[in-house]
Amino acid sequence: MSSVNHCKIITLPKIDGTTGSITPITGGKDIPFEIARIYYLYDVPGGEARGGHAHKELQQLLISASGSFDVILKDGRKKRKICLNRSYYGLYIPKLIWRELDNFSTGAICLVLASLPYDENDYIRNYKSYLNIKKAIL
Ligand code: TYD
Repeated sequence: MSSVNHCKIITLPKIDGTTGSITPITGGKDIPFEIARIYYLYDVPGGEARGGHAHKELQQLLISASGSFDVILKDGRKKRKICLNRSYYGLYIPKLIWRELDNFSTGAICLVLASLPYDENDYIRNYKSYLNIKKAIL
């Protein structure tokens, strides 16, 4: 489960009304994990980058709640780039995938649903260390 081929766009439920839309998300039903934590990234200067790490165990769903940004996914072999620009699309990222977020539009909001509470020990922040861990588990 640590190939970029396992990252996927999930089309989320969308309830349309004349005055707007609602996207409800139920952990374990609409997405492949129970939700333990939610956070969001905002006030990112237009064109800026974030991310640049992988997680040992954490699974995530990234949503552009507003605006757009690109997600670059790497697994040590393949690379994929996905633009998120709709609030009803979620990008599922399993554990052990390197991700970088860039090209934020001004005012963009990246909503993240996470399978575990925050734990700095779950981060792999160095790309060389990431490649070594990947090699070790092959
Ligand atoms: P990080 O996940 O590295 O942000 P990004 O990938 O967007 O660059 O987090 C940035 C800082 O915020 C880091 O010091 C850890 C802290 N942080 C928390 O304390 N709790 C959290 O739930 C998250 C996501 C980050």
